Amino acid sequence: MFLPLHRWIWHNPERCARKLFSFAETEADGGRDLVRAAELTQDPTLRRLFIVHAADEDRHAQLFRGRGTVLRRTLPANTSALFQLNWVSPGERGLDDLRVHGETDASLLAFLHLSEKAAAGHFATYVDALKDDPLTSQVFREVLKDETFHMNYTLAQLTRIAPQRHRTFLWKARAGRLWKAYLRLMSAIAGVMGTVMLTLQYFILLPPFAFFAKRAERREPRGWIEIPQDRGHSLTSQY
Ligand SMILES: [Fe+2]
Ligand SMILES: [Fe+2]
Repeated sequence: MFLPLHRWIWHNPERCARKLFSFAETEADGGRDLVRAAELTQDPTLRRLFIVHAADEDRHAQLFRGRGTVLRRTLPANTSALFQLNWVSPGERGLDDLRVHGETDASLLAFLHLSEKAAAGHFATYVDALKDDPLTSQVFREVLKDETFHMNYTLAQLTRIAPQRHRTFLWKARAGRLWKAYLRLMSAIAGVMGTVMLTLQYFILLPPFAFFAKRAERREPRGWIEIPQDRGHSLTSQY
């Protein structure tokens, strides 16, 4: 349903390059979190999988950065910065600022599964939306293969380590993601309100100050002002 919107978003090469760079940052950040998760887990199978996963995320970061760099080089030097619209077409959220050391293996796997599932859905849409740019589309196709593997192994491992409670962990992770989405929305609204308030202050409060400052300036004598001799002896002030 939203394919035409995504086509429009990705159609602009400047925006496309910027989005790829920001996706690369998130992927690299997710990779670092997974290395930390591998250090913390006591489960050898999970440790191995987290390391493989971290290497995949690092590779995704390189793929996105590489394609972003190629696109950036094709643009004229004075292109204007466009909105990335990442709230409409986000990248992988990775661990989304989750505190890895505060999570159990099961809660981490549940969170990762949902995150990877969402990323796989978005990237599949971008493969179609980028039909006019086959090279960028191919990057997303390649990344999508890994995201699908991440989505599947996290669910399989969650079911292995918490066979009775894996659904509970998934619901808790869903609630956590919902809460984070709410916070993101609220901070976006706060950002818009802040911009509106500051703009209004600029146009309503500043003009009277400018008017009085200009009036005061007209009353000031021009040029050098001679200081009377008897006012030149203070050690604590200039006059
Ligand atoms: Fe990724
Ligand atoms: Fe991933």
